[in-house]
Amino acid sequence: MTDLLYVHGGTPLSGEITVRGAKNFVSKAMVAALLGETPSELRNVPQIRDVGVVTGLLELHGVRVSADPEAGVLRLDPTDVESAHVADIDAHAGSSRIPILFCGPLLHRLGEAFIPDLGGCRIGDRPINYHLDILRQFGAVVDKRENGIHIRAPRRLQGTKITLPYPSVGATEQLLLTAVRAEGMTELTNAAIEPEIMDLINVLQKMGAIISVDTDRVIRIEGVDRLVGFQHTALADRIEAASWASAALSTGGDVYVRGATQPEMTAFLNTFRKVGGEFAIDDEGIRFFHPGGDLKSIVLETDVHPGFMTDWQQPLVVALTQAKGLSIVHETVYENRFGFTDALRGMGATIQVYKECLGGRPCRFGQRNFSHSAVISGPTPLTAADIEVPDLRGGFSHLIAALTAQGTSAVRGISLIDRGYENFTAKLEALGAKFDRD
Ligand code: EPU
Repeated sequence: MTDLLYVHGGTPLSGEITVRGAKNFVSKAMVAALLGETPSELRNVPQIRDVGVVTGLLELHGVRVSADPEAGVLRLDPTDVESAHVADIDAHAGSSRIPILFCGPLLHRLGEAFIPDLGGCRIGDRPINYHLDILRQFGAVVDKRENGIHIRAPRRLQGTKITLPYPSVGATEQLLLTAVRAEGMTELTNAAIEPEIMDLINVLQKMGAIISVDTDRVIRIEGVDRLVGFQHTALADRIEAASWASAALSTGGDVYVRGATQPEMTAFLNTFRKVGGEFAIDDEGIRFFHPGGDLKSIVLETDVHPGFMTDWQQPLVVALTQAKGLSIVHETVYENRFGFTDALRGMGATIQVYKECLGGRPCRFGQRNFSHSAVISGPTPLTAADIEVPDLRGGFSHLIAALTAQGTSAVRGISLIDRGYENFTAKLEALGAKFDRD
C-alpha cells in the first residue's frame, strides 16, 4: 500500500464496518501457543501488521503457523520449538513490543531467550523494568548486552509473590505467561485486569492452567507441569470500535460497528453519551451516531481498566474539538500522549497542553515535567493540512481530523495505521469517505 493518502474531508461517515479480534489480545494469545505441547487454533484474527510480526517471530522459533486470513483463523503448531539465531531475531528489533512476552514461554521450553530492542508507539519512555524484575523473581538470569537482552533459566522457574508498582498490562501478561508453568504458587498484587488480559486467562485456562482472579487486583496462579493447545475466538477490538465511533461523532456521521461489544466498552459509551453522541446496541454490534445539535465539552481522565482507556483518548480528542466549551483531558497512563495535538492545532484546533494534573486527582506524572493534561476549546472548524502520522492511535486521530476538515489533507505515513487497523482504507470507502491514494 502507498504511504500517502489525500483525504477530501467534510463528508459525514455513514454505513457499516466490521471489527474483528483485539490486536492487544491476539498477539498475546499467539505467544501463549508456545507454551502448549499440542497445536492451537485462534479465530477472529484480524489482518494487521502486528499479527504478521508475531507470526514471523514464532516461525523463527520453530512454530509452524498456517493461516486462513479471510476466515480469520490461525493454526499454531509448537511441537518443534527451537532456539532462533540472535541475528534473525534482531531483524525484528523495533517492530513491536511483543518480543518481551516471549521470555517466559521460551525459558520454559528452551531454558533461554533473546530479546531485541523493542518497538511500539513513541508515546512515552515505555521501560521494561517491571518485566525484567518479574523474570528475575522467578529465578531467571538477565544479561543486558549491546544488541539486546539475553535471559536464561539455570533451573525450573519458581513461583513467587510480586506486587506491581503500577497495574501494567504487559507486566501482568509477562507474569501470567511465566507463572503458568513455573513450579508452585505465584501471587500478583496490583495486577492489570483489562478485558484482553481476562481473555488471555481464558486461553491459558483452556490450555490447562490454574488461575484465579480476586476482586482486589490480586491474581493467583498454581503452576502446572504441562499445557496443551487451545481453540479460542478472540474478543473484539474495543480500541478500533471506539476509533470508528469517534470518527462518526467528529464528522457528524452514523456508523454501525459490527462486532463491537458493550461490556468491554462501558466507560467509553458513558463518555460518548456525555459528549452528546448516541448509540444503539444490538446482539451483533453497536451503532454510533451524531444526533444533531451541539456536542458538549467534558472533563475526562484516562485510567487502567475499568477506567477510560488511554487508547480511546486520541480519537476522542478530535471529536472534542467539535464540542462546545472547554474540555479537559488528563492522561494518567502514558506521560507523552499528546504529541499528536500539534497537527490538530495546525488544522485550526484550540488545544493547550499542561504539565499539571488538570481536572482530576493528581497522578504519578504530576511533579515530573510531562505535558500530560490538555484543554480543548471548541467548536473549531478544522482546515485541511499536510500531516505526518506519528504513531498508531495518533495516526488514526489525524485521519479523523482530515475527514472532519474542509478541503484536501495529505496524510503521510499511513502504513503505521496498518499495525492495528484492519483494511482501514476499505472501511473508509465503505463509509463513504472521499480520498485518493497517491
Ligand atoms: N511501565 C513501566 N515499566 C514497565 C512496563 C510499563 O514503567 O516495565 C509503565 C509504562 O511506561 C506506562 C504504564 O506502565 O506508563 C502502562 O504501560 P503498560 O505496561 O500497561 O502498557 P503496555 O503493555 O506496554 C499495552 C498496549 C497498549 C496500551 C497499554 C495500556 C499492547 C501491545 N499494547 O501496552 O496499546 O496503551 O497496554 O492499556 O498490548 C496501542 O494499542 O496503541 C497501545 C499502545
